[in-house]
Amino acid sequence: MLTKIMPRVAMLGIQHLEQCLLIETRSDPHPWGRVNWLRSLRDDHCLGYWQDNELLAISAYSLVLDEVSLLNIVVDTDSRGQGVGRHLLTEGLEWMQQFGGQRCLLEVRVSNTVARTLYSKLGFVEDGIRKKYYPLGDGHEDAMLMSADLPLM
Ligand SMILES: CC(C)(COP(=O)(O)OP(=O)(O)OC[C@H]1O[C@@H](n2cnc3c(N)ncnc32)[C@H](O)[C@@H]1OP(=O)(O)O)[C@@H](O)C(=O)NCCC(=O)NCCS
Repeated sequence: MLTKIMPRVAMLGIQHLEQCLLIETRSDPHPWGRVNWLRSLRDDHCLGYWQDNELLAISAYSLVLDEVSLLNIVVDTDSRGQGVGRHLLTEGLEWMQQFGGQRCLLEVRVSNTVARTLYSKLGFVEDGIRKKYYPLGDGHEDAMLMSADLPLM
């Protein structure tokens, strides 16, 4: 008999630091790095997506009053395009609602069309541009500011 393996979204802790760095290093062209992950795993709300006990995606959120910020989300390269990012972000924001989040804000590189499409499909709207926000090679890249009310539609 085939057993269907269900994905699981759960909290990440300091014990997952090396796995987070591994996923990020091989999957994100602009990695956050050890110091930021260490701080976020300790101080923010970090959630991972596991399938068959394998960590496939990681995300980090902060909460100030009723405002959630999506700080980071990374899906391991081999697991992209299969709905993992959508699943993790949807559950992550449901999780943040339980802590009082009523609105989510995020910044994304203007060149990151995959992430921007994911956010738009989940109901995020574009609020404006933050000029030269991200380092890029020798220069900078603009950030798109996006937001959505919770729960997502
Ligand atoms: C952005 C990211 C998290 C998306 O995760 P994912 O699991 O691949 O995305 P999903 O499979 O859940 O796809 C959700 C939507 O994104 C869009 N999308 C996914 N892959 C895409 C691709 N290769 N090209 C265009 N759009 C794509 C689609 O619209 C998709 O919706 P659909 O399935 O209804 O067509 C992932 O690409 C990633 O980790 N990127 C590197 C890190 C990063 O840029 N993080 C965002 C920081 S702001």
